[in-house]
Amino acid sequence: MVSGGGTNLQAVLDASTAGKLPHTEIVVVVADKADAYALERAKSVGIAAVALPKKSFPSKADFEAALIAELKSRGAELIVLAGFLTILSPAFIREYPDRILNIHPALLPAFGGGGFYGLHVHRAVLDAGEEYTGATVHYVTEVVDGGEIIAQKKVKVLKTDDEHSLQLRVMQEAEWIIYPEAIEKVCKKISEEK
Ligand code: GRF
Repeated sequence: MVSGGGTNLQAVLDASTAGKLPHTEIVVVVADKADAYALERAKSVGIAAVALPKKSFPSKADFEAALIAELKSRGAELIVLAGFLTILSPAFIREYPDRILNIHPALLPAFGGGGFYGLHVHRAVLDAGEEYTGATVHYVTEVVDGGEIIAQKKVKVLKTDDEHSLQLRVMQEAEWIIYPEAIEKVCKKISEEK
């Protein structure tokens, strides 16, 4: 599920095309905005791309019911949040226990939770004078950024970094590498449990 540019989605699509995700099948990409560029990335490789604009639903509960209906109709067994900006309700999360993954652009539990999203995370890392930052793949629970950690990768903070350069390096050196690997690891586990 996506909201924006979808560079993490692209990393997953590329890994899939390269045959690196043998236990993973991408059945649908769903966006909460009609103009999310990530949808174009999915379409360009023939993957179903569905926009469910949050604003077009009378309530969050209606929006989430539509999401669940879409995911169930596609047979999705794992939900991967890749820059999905809606915070899912506890009721939604309870529908998919241990079946929702997220990637966060910091070394959780540091720089996570409410308010830590996008460039704010990298600004906070720079302000704290950290020597290292990185990315974390984790299960989604009702605690924002608080679920069990699946994978982490460190990235060195450079003296010359601003939040934009740091965001890009965290993506290139950590997010785009660990997310496809972690998704495959979880899909392999799900297939072995069947
Ligand atoms: C990434 O920084 C990711 O860590 C965060 O949202 C951003 C999504 O970027 N959860 P993109 O849409 O994958 O390019």
